[in-house]
Amino acid sequence: MSNPLGKRLLPNQRARQDQTDAYGQLVATGLGQAVAKRLGLPRPVALRRFAVTELLCDEPVLVASIGPDGEASADGGHLPAVLDRLQHLEIEVEAPDEDTTRTRAAGDVEAPRLGGIVLDLSTVRTPEALAGFRALAAPAVKRLQPNARVVLIGTDPDELTDPREVASQQAISGIVRSLGKELRAGATTNAVYAGEAVAASVANTVEFFLSGRSAYVAGQILRINAAEPRPQDRGRPLTGKVAVVTGAARGIGAAIVEVLARDGATVVGVDVPAAGESLAHVVNNVQGTALALDITDPTAGQQILDHCRARHGGLDIVIHNAGITRDKLLVNMTEDRWNQVLDVNLGAVLAINETLLAPSDRGGLADGARIICLSSQNGIAGARGQTNYAASKAGVIGLVAATAPLVADRGITINAVAPGFIETEMTARMPLAPREIGRRLNSLQQGGLPVDVAETIAFLAQPGSQAINGQVLRICGQSLIGA
Ligand SMILES: NC(=O)c1ccc[n+]([C@@H]2O[C@H](COP(=O)([O-])OP(=O)(O)OC[C@H]3O[C@@H](n4cnc5c(N)ncnc54)[C@H](O)[C@@H]3O)[C@@H](O)[C@H]2O)c1
Repeated sequence: MSNPLGKRLLPNQRARQDQTDAYGQLVATGLGQAVAKRLGLPRPVALRRFAVTELLCDEPVLVASIGPDGEASADGGHLPAVLDRLQHLEIEVEAPDEDTTRTRAAGDVEAPRLGGIVLDLSTVRTPEALAGFRALAAPAVKRLQPNARVVLIGTDPDELTDPREVASQQAISGIVRSLGKELRAGATTNAVYAGEAVAASVANTVEFFLSGRSAYVAGQILRINAAEPRPQDRGRPLTGKVAVVTGAARGIGAAIVEVLARDGATVVGVDVPAAGESLAHVVNNVQGTALALDITDPTAGQQILDHCRARHGGLDIVIHNAGITRDKLLVNMTEDRWNQVLDVNLGAVLAINETLLAPSDRGGLADGARIICLSSQNGIAGARGQTNYAASKAGVIGLVAATAPLVADRGITINAVAPGFIETEMTARMPLAPREIGRRLNSLQQGGLPVDVAETIAFLAQPGSQAINGQVLRICGQSLIGA
């Protein structure tokens, strides 16, 4: 198949690459599978992750809309843009017809597996019309292959006023979260509230959810606004952009450097001087530059700007990734532990943003720039022993919400990602019991990888993601914690 995204990896290559922990590797063997099934233990599968050489979806995608009357059709709502995009990507599309509502019996070759389902419910305005969703989706879900994607498109309830209409669209959030918990074998459900969004923005967001970039994003809803997406190179969407990543020497930061560079950006890695050697290794791998800097230095923002201007001529993307934990129950929390975490995770982010966005320095952060902050699931749900960390990460969510409207007129967007359990040195240091609980208590029954966070950040950094502003996107495999 002459797909622009190239050839596929063999499924067994993928499995070896992507099992994230020793238990997952054990369960991937025939014997391990059988034992886990018998004992009712989690059976995580290798997730389908993005590779430049990989197809968006291996199997056909069922694309349909449910109209105000509850009837299914092949092209209502936002579907024309989605269909155009899938056609461009040479993804086989299945339209709703009598066959669609057939259940796939074992060995039935006439109802092939589906790689995904895209259902537009944006014109549904009554609870009765939602019955059309059930009629179409129930048999189609039975046909989903492992690692399939379900993507729903709705209208943001905040854009509606009539209680019946608001209720009908809010209902989609319940469907997404419940279906996400029912799917197995790496399959996910996500939604986009599209409202007045420009067609290309809807198509970009649906493509993200269908792709391996969103492997560990599950049960989430992205709201997109009416901003016009900026043009981008399809293969390398960050071409010509200069990106700064803090905390780049290892873990999630190092993965972000790699993915942004793969997508075309010139990357500046920032980390504390003590991490200089590993920082140099990470940035040298992608022909980027290193800036040894403690981000709590009061001149950090200015140093970042000076470095980017002098070495790369400007700054377009800022990823506030550096973060620390100093866990203790509040009764044992020292002033030092409290202050360190608040200073690195929140104070430094605020101060750097103030410098980069200062009206007196408009040559600083470019118009149309992207700021992406690392929050955390624990900033949403809280965690025992983490009053300091959760305060800092909840604070990040507040700063994103407050900053987004202030920078929108310059085409700048600011968003946060909230990772759940990601396999890094930070989580490897956790005691065994909470570590294993964090890993398994999610719909995908495994921890995510740093690359999962990096892929979502790279998507938010794209020029085409202009319509996503002030959002918090969880990357947690639909963790039960704080859901
Ligand atoms: N690992 C997870 O499961 C998880 C979950 C939710 C959120 N996060 C967040 O993701 C981010 C990255 O996490 P990680 O697991 O890769 O952490 P990590 O500890 O592996 O790496 C953090 C990096 O930040 C650097 N850093 C720390 N303080 C700094 C400072 N003052 N100035 C400059 N650099 C500094 C460190 O040297 C290190 O290289 C953090 O903000 C973290 O809170 C991680």
